[in-house]
Amino acid sequence: MGLLKEFLSDTTRAKHRFVDALGDYSLSVETKGRIEPFELDLPEHSLASSRAYQAAPYLILRSIFVALKKIKAPQETFLDIGCGKGRALLMAHRWGYKNLLGLDLSGRMISNASQNLAKKGIFHARLKVADAVNFQYPSGDSVFFLNNPFDGNILRPVVTALKEQSSPESVFVYLNPLREHLFQQLGFKKVYEIDSFNHNYKSSFFRL
Ligand SMILES: C[S@@+](CC[C@H](N)C(=O)[O-])C[C@H]1O[C@@H](n2cnc3c(N)ncnc32)[C@H](O)[C@@H]1O
Repeated sequence: MGLLKEFLSDTTRAKHRFVDALGDYSLSVETKGRIEPFELDLPEHSLASSRAYQAAPYLILRSIFVALKKIKAPQETFLDIGCGKGRALLMAHRWGYKNLLGLDLSGRMISNASQNLAKKGIFHARLKVADAVNFQYPSGDSVFFLNNPFDGNILRPVVTALKEQSSPESVFVYLNPLREHLFQQLGFKKVYEIDSFNHNYKSSFFRL
């Protein structure tokens, strides 16, 4: 990596760390930090395919919700696949989404998400300890959010299930889209993207 790119990358990471700490503090929630899969209460067989817990930066989520408005994505139902401590759900609530769904394979993450949402008076969100592979996804118009939660062995069956179960109006946001070719292979069309020199902050938006 060139020196300038390294400098920009470090500066951007520091900016996100600062804004994320500030965001949690001002909302009185606790969503920051990183937790490795082996530190979570995940089933043994999923440790290799699961990514560490790390919430999407608040500033990145903001640009995602701006983009969702711009492309006229559904504005009622927001589902976070691998919701962790619920930061994206908190922001979806702030951006006016009324039906909030979060699923995570870790019971500990779901319990943290529930506490964080309760602190903001959000008691109507549906939070489930579930494997994304077996989940019955909502069939109505929805926004589905994936912050690179797992590897291709899990992503492929999940994207296949989403294709079979969701509506043509639904939008699928893939942050840190390491395996976006899977969406394209399965017939999804990329309708928008947010680019960044740091792959962690890129997002791709798909429709069927
Ligand atoms: C990178 S974190 C994303 C957190 C959250 N979406 C956010 O942006 O704030 C990935 C989450 O996916 C969860 N996860 C991993 N494998 C999963 C699976 N098969 N089904 C459901 N959740 C899974 C992990 O427990 C972890 O909390």
